[in-house]
Amino acid sequence: RPISGFKMYSPKLIVVSNRLPFVLKKNSEDELERVPSAGGLVTAVGPVVIQGNGLWVGWPGPNYKSGTPIPESSPEDASPSAKLLSSNIIPVEIDQNLMNNFYNGCCNATFWPLFHLMPDKAVFNVDYWQAFRKANFLFAETVISALNKQSKKSTEKESTLIWLHDYHLMLAANTIREAPDLKNANFKLAFFLHIPFPPWDILRIFPWVDDLLQGLLGNDMIGFHTKDYCMNFIECCRRGLKCRVDTENLLVEHGARTIKVCPLPIGVPYERFQELARNASNVIKEPGIKLILGVDRLDYTKGIQNRLLGFQRLLEKKPDLIGKVTLLQIAVPSRQDVKEYQDLKEAMDKLVGNINGQFSTPKWSPIRYIFGTVRQEELAGYYRDSDVALITPFRDGMNLVAKEFVSCQIKNPPGVLIISPFAGAAEQMEEALIANPYEIDDIVDTLIRALEMPNDEKMLRINYLKQREQSQDVHFWMKSFLKVMGEIIESDGEDIRP
Ligand code: ADP
Ligand code: F6P
Repeated sequence: RPISGFKMYSPKLIVVSNRLPFVLKKNSEDELERVPSAGGLVTAVGPVVIQGNGLWVGWPGPNYKSGTPIPESSPEDASPSAKLLSSNIIPVEIDQNLMNNFYNGCCNATFWPLFHLMPDKAVFNVDYWQAFRKANFLFAETVISALNKQSKKSTEKESTLIWLHDYHLMLAANTIREAPDLKNANFKLAFFLHIPFPPWDILRIFPWVDDLLQGLLGNDMIGFHTKDYCMNFIECCRRGLKCRVDTENLLVEHGARTIKVCPLPIGVPYERFQELARNASNVIKEPGIKLILGVDRLDYTKGIQNRLLGFQRLLEKKPDLIGKVTLLQIAVPSRQDVKEYQDLKEAMDKLVGNINGQFSTPKWSPIRYIFGTVRQEELAGYYRDSDVALITPFRDGMNLVAKEFVSCQIKNPPGVLIISPFAGAAEQMEEALIANPYEIDDIVDTLIRALEMPNDEKMLRINYLKQREQSQDVHFWMKSFLKVMGEIIESDGEDIRP
């Protein structure tokens, strides 16, 4: 895509994240093959790496051993990152014990609940924290050696942009910045958080909060989905580390450096979803039956149980809807080694069984529940053919599903989006209906409003929503990010002291 209207910084790009767009699994012939992974990070970062011809440093899963070649994607792989060549991937091997304490432990049992404002679910354990430090060091070392190789090969003076992603890598920047081998290397460090950043009163519960903030401040720029998350971060630096801050220009001073903080709301590949929606086969839908859709990783932050309870109460309150509306819940298995996620899976199976037992007729079941990964081509068909998307997270950094749903609305009448006010996406998507996931009756009332909405109102709302997603898509996100990095390079050393 041509890039216009931006004064662009166009660096070499090294993206670093724990999750790669695939996990390596052994096939029946005992060979490693790629299995596409799901989640907001890979959906957004995949097109960015491919478009920028970057390198992607990440963990290819437990089957990867150092030195093993990364297979190319299979010809049947139509996932958005299938085009990512193995020569663009730099794998990081992490042994099982370390991964267990780092990923299942510190990332998913500590930071995930804490940053989603659920401190009662968070586990604080020094072994997890040590594992987190060690894993971040391993990622950083891999980046250092990639950068060394790159600068040996290249004679150009062009700088490299190292873009760290998400809460798994909050401590990697300083190791890279301070690496003795990189003294003369020309690079900038940026970090983007794909989940919410909590306010100080929550973050301070973390026992090693100073180290954490100092780790983040090793970057030149730190991006978040929303202005609120930026302000939370700045306030944490002010109160936790006593940094001088500039809340107007979103700057934090740390030692001799000034760090730029930036709201960069992520987008989706809008045109790709439009095309997928145009080409997707029809979803099997009984005539006259309305379809309500939920699509999530199976995660307790997504409020899926309250969504089902809302649907159950809807059928109790309005029995005339029995046989006339179906809830299709697609849930991709996620973090199944963590107990909270195993418990959620069990609770969901029970709840779906109860509701279906309560209302099913010989010809109709109220809930269709898919526990598995669905290809984007198929997902686009579900988005397009649903009457309502019901997105009810208790807390969500952004929520790309809402944006994908909107991008796939090509039919007349279009579907209606219902979103929780606690998803970052709700800040932008003003024309959606809002339902508080903590209040089951609000879910019920909003569902009724959506199901009864006149077609012209549906069209008006969706047109505004589509325009925004089209103009602020994932490519716009990348361009905005590169623009900020360009400005940082130009204004290097800016002093924010009064
Ligand atoms: P999170 O990053 O917390 O998983 P998002 O809503 O931001 O939440 O992103 C989820 C991504 O995962 C979306 O791109 C969505 O299409 C994808 N996804 C969710 N559920 C499934 C599923 N069952 N099969 C395939 N992809 C899925
Ligand atoms: O978008 C939030 C996020 O936590 C990403 O960081 C992550 O890749 C995705 O959800 C899926 O989670 P996981 O990598 O643990 O499978």
